[in-house]
Amino acid sequence: MKIAVLNGSPKGEISVTVQYIKFIQKKFPQHELKLLNISHEIQELEKDDKAFQDVIAEVEKSDGVIWAFPLYVFLVASQYKRFIEMIWEKKVADAFKGKYTCVISTSIHFFDNTAHNYMRGICDDLDMKFTESFSADMDDIFNDEKRRILLKWAADFFTAIEKQSPTSKAYAPVVPGKFSYKPGSVKSKIDSQGQRIKILADITDSNSNIAKMVNRFKDSVKEGVQIFNVRDVNMKGGCLGCMQCAFDNICFYKDKDDFMEFFNTEMRDADVTIFASEIKDRFITSRIKMFWDRRFFNGHIPLNINKQIGFIISGPLGQLANLQEILQGLAEMSDANFTGVVTDECGDSAQLDALIDDFAAKCVDYSTQKYVRPRTFLGVGGHKIFRDQIWARLRFPFQADYKFYAEHGMFDFPQDDKRYVEFSQQMTNMIQDPKMRDVVRKMIKTEMLKGYQKVVETK
Ligand SMILES: Cc1cc2nc3c(=O)[nH]c(=O)nc-3n(C[C@H](O)[C@H](O)[C@H](O)COP(=O)(O)O)c2cc1C
Repeated sequence: MKIAVLNGSPKGEISVTVQYIKFIQKKFPQHELKLLNISHEIQELEKDDKAFQDVIAEVEKSDGVIWAFPLYVFLVASQYKRFIEMIWEKKVADAFKGKYTCVISTSIHFFDNTAHNYMRGICDDLDMKFTESFSADMDDIFNDEKRRILLKWAADFFTAIEKQSPTSKAYAPVVPGKFSYKPGSVKSKIDSQGQRIKILADITDSNSNIAKMVNRFKDSVKEGVQIFNVRDVNMKGGCLGCMQCAFDNICFYKDKDDFMEFFNTEMRDADVTIFASEIKDRFITSRIKMFWDRRFFNGHIPLNINKQIGFIISGPLGQLANLQEILQGLAEMSDANFTGVVTDECGDSAQLDALIDDFAAKCVDYSTQKYVRPRTFLGVGGHKIFRDQIWARLRFPFQADYKFYAEHGMFDFPQDDKRYVEFSQQMTNMIQDPKMRDVVRKMIKTEMLKGYQKVVETK
């Protein structure tokens, strides 16, 4: 069979993910896996329609499609996201329709779930026959058992095509709204109280809802709000994954475009950062994603510690739980407060005015009050993954991360929590005695509460 492999690594064939594909190819020589370097060639695919159509022709003549990519910042790389946008822009979705498909990623399992959910949704939108996804840790290939599982997954994909096995969809289509926002006049402006509020927006049409929402936000605050259109930020391309930044946080593109300079001088000092975007397919735009990916020159260092991060979104976010999780995850992983999200889904201009004004007021209030809510599983779990990786596997090459984590107490391993470790040991010794075991068992509920009750009484 002929299988089109859409390679999402910006590194092209010098890629970890591609080694997984090559391994599968070696073990299944009866099939032809045609590697198409989507992310690496994205600028060519954007500029040259023939190059793009050649890729689509490969998809058309294939018996199946493998989406193979590295995780990049909660999703696929911006270059790959751009390719997905182009499928609809260039009206070639029919080439994918009815094709058997599967998804494989390599990563360190940081928000691999959201990337896979996204790709599954895209496959469903393209009316493809989705078999199974496979989220490999980047080093799984070194392990015999994990290689066996990988080959089973690949074999199942080929068998599904041969047998024309039934498949089902996981996601309903996303239905966009038709509402056109007409902002009213601002009655009383909010005092920004000296907070630096920076909006990074993707605006291609000044009459769009997103443009009007961003302007409304700015108008509702007396001063201190700056809007930056991500289209005006000179970025020569998406993150290349080259890791030239890993030693000292200096991007490969430093003297080639303005991104690093822009980020360091305009965005880094924000008290409130707002990302504003339309929804494109099941995510925000690939241009904002490019901005997020390019911030990776800072490695795994949280970028907005004790600051505010919020979002202004135009489009059906309520239908995209996966994207909601990513927005919150991004704020929490920046060590910021997830200030909130305003969307235009209410479909009523007066109500949207009120929502934006209220959101602006919250941004200022939370920022001045240094209000940072506790992180959820997204931030707590994400931190533990980064902490463990920077401690060992990624310590080299991510030297700048290691230094930062060490200096900022971010290696907060539980084995250093001496109080609980020692307490647990004492109690464990105590309950070896069967009598004490019964006594302690009876007291567990009430004893456990004592400390909490003391705080309630005394604070
Ligand atoms: C810019 C950038 C962003 C990344 N983001 C994530 C991420 O969000 N989650 C994750 O688990 N791994 C992330 N990684 C790690 C890669 O997914 C992983 O190293 C992958 O195996 C690289 O594959 P490749 O060599 O095929 O590009 C990121 C790496 C880079 C360079």
